[in-house]
Amino acid sequence: KQRGIYRNIPPGPRPWPVVGNFGALLLPPFIRRRFGQTSNRNIGVMEALTSQASVYGNIYSLFVGSQLIVVLNGYEVVKDALSNHPDVFSDRPDVPTISILTKRKGIVFAPYGLVWRKQRKFCHATLRNFGLGRLSLEPCIQQGVAAVKTELLRLNGERGACGVDPSRLISNAVSNVICSLILGQRFHHEDPEFRGILDLMSRGLEICINSPAVLINIFPLLYYLPFGAFRELRRVERDITVFLKKIIESHSNTLDPDNPRDLTDMYLMEMLAQQAAGEQDSSFTEDYLFYIIGDLFIAGTDTTTNSVLWVLLYLALYPDIQDEVQAEIDRVVGRRRPPSLTDRGSLPFTEAAIMEVQRLTAVVPLSIPHMASETTVFRGFTIPKGTVIMPNLYSVHRDPSVWDDPDAFNPARFLDGEGKLLRRESFIPFGIGRRVCMGEQLAKMELFLTVSGLLQACTFRLPDGAPAPSLHGRFGLTLAPCPFALCVSARSEDSFSCDALS
Ligand code: HEM
Repeated sequence: KQRGIYRNIPPGPRPWPVVGNFGALLLPPFIRRRFGQTSNRNIGVMEALTSQASVYGNIYSLFVGSQLIVVLNGYEVVKDALSNHPDVFSDRPDVPTISILTKRKGIVFAPYGLVWRKQRKFCHATLRNFGLGRLSLEPCIQQGVAAVKTELLRLNGERGACGVDPSRLISNAVSNVICSLILGQRFHHEDPEFRGILDLMSRGLEICINSPAVLINIFPLLYYLPFGAFRELRRVERDITVFLKKIIESHSNTLDPDNPRDLTDMYLMEMLAQQAAGEQDSSFTEDYLFYIIGDLFIAGTDTTTNSVLWVLLYLALYPDIQDEVQAEIDRVVGRRRPPSLTDRGSLPFTEAAIMEVQRLTAVVPLSIPHMASETTVFRGFTIPKGTVIMPNLYSVHRDPSVWDDPDAFNPARFLDGEGKLLRRESFIPFGIGRRVCMGEQLAKMELFLTVSGLLQACTFRLPDGAPAPSLHGRFGLTLAPCPFALCVSARSEDSFSCDALS
């Protein structure tokens, strides 16, 4: 029975004592069924969360322990909350496991307010400057793609009919873009320091989201337990700190204000400028920079990596669409130079195929949690201050009132009658509102150059006789495809070499 401030909250399944009911949706389907959480189909977590909307409506409640979570479903509701009520729904919750790593600083998990706004504005402008302006990242991305192509073909030669798992190579290429941006340097994919950083970051996220350490969110004192995931979380926290401090120190020692190398240099220069101007309460400090670097690594690697992997998987599952993408690239770019950003407007089908995969997979399916910063009445329901808001982007992209046959893979839905690219308002893989992804332009650029570059040079097919990989994916902060292998073949002998780009 709902009481006090909870009297008029959105409806939802009955919570279990102490633990609530959100976790039940993350359990394997056969356990979920026993508690009547979903129908008897073997469905994934996102389908399970989305199907609750047909029972309780587009705004429904769940609980983690005693923490109220309101899940927003469908385009109209998500847009109404995040675009029309930004001052109420743009805050971030204090999730203990995440706050241990981020201290609520940086950008991604920082509370909504002046400090967040200033930091985001500065980093956004710097990203634009480095990514699309003066110090373009285009050659850096193209070089990464050329290295991935070469390595995929080499590995495919070794493994033959079993195919190659492309995930590590794609993750390396994407991470190298962030490294160029933040550290001003690229790494060889076998460099042990580079591998160490990447493993550390992804392990940190994995522990926070998919390990017994999530119980810290209900019982915070578990953080101090001297074993298992709890101890590992403290180790990862310590190792990340050592790594990030080293980066900042070496940048500080070698900073040349006339020749900034990367975002870290630009940030240090801003910090010094604000000190020189006598800004007393400036938030531009080395401490804050530490969390910004961590944020960009986390926000900019898994998201883009998984998006590229999903595109390769879908195109292997739909060879006709892959052929059509390749025919377009051949027609517009040919095979003697890599696709460049100036080709984007001339490759609408390639863009549409990428967007259609992004729509179906919604790589950040529940966005990043928002929080109500004051008690409000939203669409007839009371949303108490401190409620965690989960915009279900997966449901937006499968909303049957917006998309015809929403479960079908059909790139043509992003093209008009003349084959030109259509901007569709309800396509929001990067979120919407004030907290919309800060790296959207960079991510789109990476996706386009990587997918078009790989498909120009290679054909991807599923190994003969291999079972079709699951399209439900692995649920975490991002929705990653389950591990898969592809047979990769070169499309022609005469394509340009990696060296030609350096
Ligand atoms: C936030 C998606 C790549 C930086 C977000 C959000 C989504 C998202 C859904 C949450 C929006 C919200 O809270 O309402 C994606 C996808 C990507 C991608 C699908 C790749 C395909 C990147 C890249 C970077 C980046 C490459 C940076 C280099 C950020 C940051 C935020 C964010 C800093 C937090 C914004 C804030 O809280 O103000 N992203 N992202 N993202 N993203 Fe991305």
